[in-house]
Amino acid sequence: MAEKTILRALKGEVLPTPPIWMMRQAGRYLPEYRATRAQAGDFLSLCYNPELAAEVTLQPIRRYGFDAAILFADILLLPQALGADLWFVTGEGPRLSTVTTQADFDVLKPASEVHEVLSPIYETVKILSRELPAETTLIGFAGAPWTVATYMIAGRGTPDQGPAHALIAENRPLFEALLERLTEGTIEYLSKQIEAGAEVVKLFDSWAGSLSGADFDRYALEPARRIIAELKARHPGIPVIAFPREAGEKYVGFARATGADCVALDNSVSPDWAAANVQVDGCVQGNLASKHMVTGGDALVAEAREIVKAFSKGPHIFNLGHGITPDADPENVQLMIDAVRGKI
Ligand code: CP3
Repeated sequence: MAEKTILRALKGEVLPTPPIWMMRQAGRYLPEYRATRAQAGDFLSLCYNPELAAEVTLQPIRRYGFDAAILFADILLLPQALGADLWFVTGEGPRLSTVTTQADFDVLKPASEVHEVLSPIYETVKILSRELPAETTLIGFAGAPWTVATYMIAGRGTPDQGPAHALIAENRPLFEALLERLTEGTIEYLSKQIEAGAEVVKLFDSWAGSLSGADFDRYALEPARRIIAELKARHPGIPVIAFPREAGEKYVGFARATGADCVALDNSVSPDWAAANVQVDGCVQGNLASKHMVTGGDALVAEAREIVKAFSKGPHIFNLGHGITPDADPENVQLMIDAVRGKI
């Protein structure tokens, strides 16, 4: 069989139609996801149930035939595996026990011990690598250390990552020790996903945009570079997608500096600008605004076509600029796919 389209794009091949998948493609906008989550009980029980987590990963593949499946899990499972408490408050989001003092840090486990908690996730990957259609690429993922640290320090999501910035200002050595532990843990976690069958891995740095200047280089770029170098040393040829969300000008050169095979773009950058300044270094992924999955119509089709056209001269994987939201209409997802594949 010919090589999978996502893997070809990640090697730099320019395809006549970009392969497509969607961040949060398994999620609350799908009735079948809501039913399986109810069966599991709650979100975390779903993440740690390999059969059901594989089932929700497969649902959007069955419904839409995306070119990639992304493992169903969460970036906050790693802090839990390091010993943090984690729970989700319905309608609000994640809550964690906080790490703001040396004593909080000292009780965290070493990176080599994360596998006990995370072993069900590797089992999900194994099931998926057996059950996915032959043409579908399996993507594993983890949060980037900075983004995960912002949740561990604040104990929740924050609009401006204030508590993490405050810790940098007040106790940089402690912040850096936490970042180091997360960097090592991420390498361990992604390595095991790859051994279990993940064909690509993606690093989500959702809050990279709140780092500026030297802090961006130290806390977003450098951990990504180290993680990618170590993964490629352990698993030669494994492609990596990096998503330094809202990095703006810092997207330029990010792939070269970190060794990423592809940079995922949020929708704050224009496709024409990104084609000229980021895609020159290799594959890019993105970047339709997720609001189109709610609003649909001609604007969705026009914008999807614009993005395909802007990136048509280089390697491109079509995606949203951020995750699809629970209020999205499943029919708009089909409309996006048809527009990208030239079926309408
Ligand atoms: O993309 C996928 O379909 C794969 C699974 C996946 C989830 N979360 C499932 C999920 C992935 C890749 C993530 C990544 C993730 N998780 C990120 C990085 C990407 C981003 O969105 O910026 C972050 C910051 C998290 C942390 C997290 N998980 C938050 C802040 C929340 C609550 C907000 C929300 O959307 O409800 C979650 C919960 C979560 N993770 C859900 C899903 C499907 C919703 C939970 C539910 O079913 O109730």
